[in-house]
Amino acid sequence: MLESLKSEVAAILKDSDKTVDSRLQVVCELLRKSIPYYDWVGFYFKNGDKQELKLGPYAGEPTDHTIIPFGKGICGQVAISNENFVVPDVAAQDNYIACSITVKSEIVIPLFLNGENIGQIDIDSNTPDPFTEADERFLEFVNQKVAEIL
Ligand code: SME
Repeated sequence: MLESLKSEVAAILKDSDKTVDSRLQVVCELLRKSIPYYDWVGFYFKNGDKQELKLGPYAGEPTDHTIIPFGKGICGQVAISNENFVVPDVAAQDNYIACSITVKSEIVIPLFLNGENIGQIDIDSNTPDPFTEADERFLEFVNQKVAEIL
């Protein structure tokens, strides 16, 4: 399933008639509706020169966490670590920012442009421990394709 979504993602991102944000929006919606355990899908990007992330396009319930300081929560940690962060059980995390009480697990994959960590894709799931290495590889692919249009 993830493999077949790759070409759809690539096609959406190539559509230069649309703004970058609207293409990212369509990608978020595609992932959310296609993958049963992706309940919230969004992009965060570094907010200018500030040591914080700003919410970009997303699909799912609105979140209060539109700004996340570097170091805070799973997202803020990934902004600093430059590493994928897979959280099978959010209740077991100390440094976690809850967006919804229904969320059980999360995956955050950094997005690199010319080797620099400039943002991330964040997925929340209402299913416990659903993410595998296939999700990591797939989301790395998505971020790579996004970087090509930034
Ligand atoms: N749970 C994230 C905050 C962002 S929401 O999931 C949309 C975190 O701990 O950084």
